[in-house]
Amino acid sequence: MNVGLLGFGTVGSSFYDLTRAEDKGVKVTKILSRRVLTDVSCAVTADIEDIVSDPGIDTVVELIGGLTPAYDHVCRAIKTGKNVVTANKHLIAERTAELYALSEKYDVSLKFTAASGGGIPWLTSLSRASSAENILSLGGIMNGTSNYILSKMYSDNLPFDEALKDAQSRGLAEADPSADVYGLDACRKLALSSTVAFEKIFDTKDVLTYGIQDIKANDTFKADSYGYKIKHYAYCERRGDAFTSFVCPALFPFSSAEASVSGVNNVFSYKPYGSGFFSLSGPGAGGRATALNVLADCIDISRKKERFYGKTLSGKAHTDNGRKSFKWLIRRGEKYDTFNASPASAFNEYEKNQKDKQGALLALICERDEYDD
Ligand SMILES: NC(=O)c1ccc[n+]([C@@H]2O[C@H](COP(=O)([O-])OP(=O)(O)OC[C@H]3O[C@@H](n4cnc5c(N)ncnc54)[C@H](OP(=O)(O)O)[C@@H]3O)[C@@H](O)[C@H]2O)c1
Repeated sequence: MNVGLLGFGTVGSSFYDLTRAEDKGVKVTKILSRRVLTDVSCAVTADIEDIVSDPGIDTVVELIGGLTPAYDHVCRAIKTGKNVVTANKHLIAERTAELYALSEKYDVSLKFTAASGGGIPWLTSLSRASSAENILSLGGIMNGTSNYILSKMYSDNLPFDEALKDAQSRGLAEADPSADVYGLDACRKLALSSTVAFEKIFDTKDVLTYGIQDIKANDTFKADSYGYKIKHYAYCERRGDAFTSFVCPALFPFSSAEASVSGVNNVFSYKPYGSGFFSLSGPGAGGRATALNVLADCIDISRKKERFYGKTLSGKAHTDNGRKSFKWLIRRGEKYDTFNASPASAFNEYEKNQKDKQGALLALICERDEYDD
């Protein structure tokens, strides 16, 4: 397989190094870079047309990130008959319908395993499992930065702002950390995961989403006293023809897989009908780990060309967050209560109270037996 590589940053340069270190049948023949690259032994161009018009390139690996210019470049690549591999959750989650339709029309593969889970082979495992089983639900701790901040609040007894500064000083949170901290990054990963599991297009705007920004040190002590740890959780469940889908803080019992995932690690789980949970955990980010997943996608395509994980998407998912009740912890100012409500009502209640000058916190209370078929 001959690859045109777009972007030579953390993941792009690691991907290039991996292809040079060992011959796995995947060769980078051209790189799109706006900088001069001195340490590479292939052609470098600043013009995407040099890559998409090259008949020797069969696959484009997009590792620029964001929507612009990644979306235009990926569309150009597909329209010129190139397979596409990307780690870009923003691009795939916000443009699922268009990119799926294009990959069908031009009969090329589109894979994005590293976009949800970094180095964890979550989407490929989920895709395989959902081919054989009906998936009831999936969820996970999908954002390493938030998990690092929460872990730091616990281990070093830091308030949220200081834990965030620590993450930024270590390069684990961006200067603008809003996508991680407010839950949008996890929301995109949840949408991608749901698309692969349920073969529908999930609109990120339908996912009730909020982040870890309201968690205070006292909340972690309160959770401790109940025998739980606070994590940031993304969850999607099928109920008949509708889906419940939300992202928010959640309390997990100390003994659960989620409670023990610390630092930048992630954990992803799915539950088939009539069976227990299956989980995968590991580094959800990092140049080399993520690049390994990108390389594995390329190798998969060279062995067996599947357009979209072999899935056929059947329209937009109908999300109804008012159907099923869950158990929640809410803090209004300093006072804690537990209550049962649908996610739609619980988020409403949280938003009403959030305007209060002492703030509010809403957290799902995860008790696994509540998630029975
Ligand atoms: N880092 C991770 O651990 C991780 C994990 C999972 C998924 N991902 C995803 O992987 C993708 C890449 O992430 P990253 O961490 O490698 O980002 P990064 O280090 O910021 O690298 C992005 C690269 O794209 C280049 N670029 C930006 N605009 C460009 C343009 N117009 N034309 C050509 N090149 C352009 C940048 O070039 P300059 O050097 O000139 O700025 C840089 O080399 C993102 O979608 C990200 O969400 C990353």
